[in-house]
Amino acid sequence: MKILQVTDTHLVEDGGTIYGIDPAARLESCVAHINAHHADARFCVLSGDLTNEGTPGAYRALKAILDGLSVPYHVMIGNHDNRAALLAAFPETPRDEGGFVQYALETPAGRLLVLDTVEPGTHGGSYCPRRAAWLGDRLAEAGDGPVYIFMHHPPFPIGLPAMDRMGLDDPEPFVTAVAGRATAANIRHIFFGHVHRAVSGSWRGIAFSALPSTVHQVALDFETVSPVPKTREPPAYGVILIEPDRTLVHVNAYLDNSRIEGAQSPEPPSQPTQ
Ligand SMILES: [Fe+2]
Repeated sequence: MKILQVTDTHLVEDGGTIYGIDPAARLESCVAHINAHHADARFCVLSGDLTNEGTPGAYRALKAILDGLSVPYHVMIGNHDNRAALLAAFPETPRDEGGFVQYALETPAGRLLVLDTVEPGTHGGSYCPRRAAWLGDRLAEAGDGPVYIFMHHPPFPIGLPAMDRMGLDDPEPFVTAVAGRATAANIRHIFFGHVHRAVSGSWRGIAFSALPSTVHQVALDFETVSPVPKTREPPAYGVILIEPDRTLVHVNAYLDNSRIEGAQSPEPPSQPTQ
């Protein structure tokens, strides 16, 4: 199964820019690239920070671009989003009984769970016991079947102090829901937004990945705490291939047109036989 992840689109109103970058133009190029190369994907997940300031006009601008996608899409909430404005623009987005923007997507590859880690008024995240109870129930329903989680904020430090100070305020309810119910045996992968750069690894035996934004990136800076060190490194989106025995996350730097046409690799060097 092929799915796509586009993250941290940070749309603004009226053709505005962020740090000299036009988020709408970046997203339009992304949509065009998807339509040209990955129209066979099952769907695309937009993993939060859909807009930069959560304003209704930014959501309208976002929706106008996303409606040009040739694959279905699902939206998530991030710390730059406004829950009410997001839901007004995308009213079909499911939410749980507490009004949080979290939902399950059933696919041939297993169950995808989209979580809401947003705490209004802070760029840090929260995953309260109420939300964690929903997660626990959804994990229980999945039994031993494969589960894939999408959440905006990582629930553990990723080694970048400027981002780690904006992680989940209290990861314990999430950790308990995950560790209390299951292990990597059926939670196959966690996909993050928020980080604005490619990071992958494993946490408690569960594989994870984060991707560059379609706009500005966060520097690979292990020292700076504040302000967040930003860069103009290239944007990307994720092409995710899920098979029963593997999950692949290809980081697709879609603005890079540097393919070397017709280049032939040299023959491999001959090796003396022993
Ligand atoms: Fe972001």
